[in-house]
Amino acid sequence: MNGTLTLPGLIDAHVHLREPGATHKEDCRTGTAAALAGGFNTILDMPNNQPPLTNLEVLRCKQALFSTKALCDYGLFAGYDPRQPQALTALAPYVVGLKLYLDTTFASAALTSEALDAVFRDWPGPGPIAIHAESCSIPLALELAARHHQRLHVCHVPQPDDLLVIDRARQAGTQVTCEVTPHHLLLTTEDERRLGAFGRMKPPLLAPNLVDLLWQRLALVDIIASDHAPHTIAEKTGPEPAPGVPGLETTLPLMLQAVDEGRLSLDRLLELLHHAPARIYGLPFDSGQVEIELTSYTLPAAGYHTRCGWTPFAGKRALGIIRQVTLRSTVVYNDNQVLVRPGFGRNVVHN
Ligand code: DOR
Ligand code: ZN
Repeated sequence: MNGTLTLPGLIDAHVHLREPGATHKEDCRTGTAAALAGGFNTILDMPNNQPPLTNLEVLRCKQALFSTKALCDYGLFAGYDPRQPQALTALAPYVVGLKLYLDTTFASAALTSEALDAVFRDWPGPGPIAIHAESCSIPLALELAARHHQRLHVCHVPQPDDLLVIDRARQAGTQVTCEVTPHHLLLTTEDERRLGAFGRMKPPLLAPNLVDLLWQRLALVDIIASDHAPHTIAEKTGPEPAPGVPGLETTLPLMLQAVDEGRLSLDRLLELLHHAPARIYGLPFDSGQVEIELTSYTLPAAGYHTRCGWTPFAGKRALGIIRQVTLRSTVVYNDNQVLVRPGFGRNVVHN
């Protein structure tokens, strides 16, 4: 591929912009600048902030931060606090979905099966229940979604075999969709050896043979999302490095490179980065566009808009320089420059 490519406004359906609570890693402005620089005009932000978005008070605080600082459009996920289960009903109209951490990986304690059953029973929607789950918890979530007629979205599928489990449930009528990240597709445990903490995230990278399987089963995947989870270089080199890697600015050029290598079609990439996230989360299909110059290059180690300032993909081949991003008929980004003021971004949920 060469020349210029124009695509509809892309959506990153899974990011952690760290505000409130950890603005030394990222904030609403730097995170949404990274989104625009990466060709995305809409992002969906996860609730694991400090404090987590599990009640109306934190929702109002986070809405205020985004409405004054965001450069691109955004949606917020609600989280769940077992001590405030009734908050879910109040939060539901204002969020794109409910994010649940099913295992002890991020929640302080695993949810009891009674609590989980009640959440699936009581979540009013309209957004889906999105889960962070280890492979062993996915069957239970599928069963609960089927029992309570909920839409389920499995974030960053941890293993290629999980795709088969999810597909079987889908064939049997469960409303389930799923997502993979560029790092699970393009990095392996061999890269992790080289990258150390900079190659560690949850779920962890896969062995090369499992990465191959993930590619072979890509037809079963609905969304590619970055799981942009910035941590500072100091934190990553410190005694207890937190898991997570940034990804907003590398997803599109890396995936276009994969298209160029014949690993998936451009139509399929558009489905994964635009149509499917819009359909699953009820977002507009015509929010704008991104113009890309199809130049081939090697991803640099630095020079990104994200505050964390690094990428696990440095040195990887990439295709496509993001030249221009439009959002709601306004040019918001052109040649490395953000052209709008913080606060231009709007909540995609209009309640
Ligand atoms: O590695 C991860 N880091 N996985 C997640 O699900 C959360 C994230 C974070 O917030 O840092
Ligand atoms: Zn995440």
